[in-house]
Amino acid sequence: MVLSQTARFAGRMFDKAKGSEEPDAEKPLRHVAIIMDGNGRWASREGVTRLKGHQQGVEAARGAVEMAKELGLTHLTLYSFSTENWSRPDWEVQHLLNLLRQFFAKDLKKLADQGIRVKIIGDRDTLPDDIRGHVEEAEARTADNPGYTLQIAFNYGGRDELVRAVTKIASRAAAGQLDPADIDEAVLSNALDTGGAPDPDLIIRTSGEQRISNFLLWQAAYAEFVFLDCFWPDFTREEFLGAVEQYQARTRRFGARP
Ligand code: IPE
Ligand code: IPE
Ligand code: MG
Repeated sequence: MVLSQTARFAGRMFDKAKGSEEPDAEKPLRHVAIIMDGNGRWASREGVTRLKGHQQGVEAARGAVEMAKELGLTHLTLYSFSTENWSRPDWEVQHLLNLLRQFFAKDLKKLADQGIRVKIIGDRDTLPDDIRGHVEEAEARTADNPGYTLQIAFNYGGRDELVRAVTKIASRAAAGQLDPADIDEAVLSNALDTGGAPDPDLIIRTSGEQRISNFLLWQAAYAEFVFLDCFWPDFTREEFLGAVEQYQARTRRFGARP
């Protein structure tokens, strides 16, 4: 399906969704965030190693990056490694770190050439030095790109992000740069790793699990959730479009009355 067809598909779903209730007749889809889960179970099903499962997961992520462009998103966030994933066996953690290194080596140039802006969210200070260097270089290299923003959540935890944000705000208050009376939702939002990005409209989780696993806790306040049964390496454009279709059929109320 080419771009215009994809847009028509999304538009058709949008029209279909308008039938029942009116309040969200204007329902843009700007930011999609994905909990890419199920690499291990995919590997078990296929009779291959977990490492192969994670490699296939990277292929699926590449597909999602393409789709985000076709759908005209402004932001795509991919949950790649949580603050809790350090508790996995060391060989698996090392493999996941190496996949991130490979991403910078293999994919960054292509993304930069396509005008995509790359940001890493999560605690970068506790990542290995070489990876931190790649992160800073990738962000600097793509900072002025006009395309959509790809946020890779790596060593990311929603609680950890909130603690780091509050620490930043408290330091500014202690230094007399910020009056505590001026702390509001915008100040906290901007202090998060995602500062400046719109909240996710749609959060997709694959693998059949129906939980948030410490992802975008603050930002998900009014996100629509779509849980898919497929394992992450099986996530294709059809799965992505199916999730968008479910989103378009929802009525977002934000606490107001239809
Ligand atoms: C998701 O797949 C990748 C990461 C969490 C890094 P999993 O490795 O969690 O796969 P399952 O959930 O065990 O199948
Ligand atoms: C969530 O998956 C984290 C990522 C996809 C990176 P997990 O597999 O770590 O989540 P739980 O342990 O099933 O909640
Ligand atoms: Mg999992």
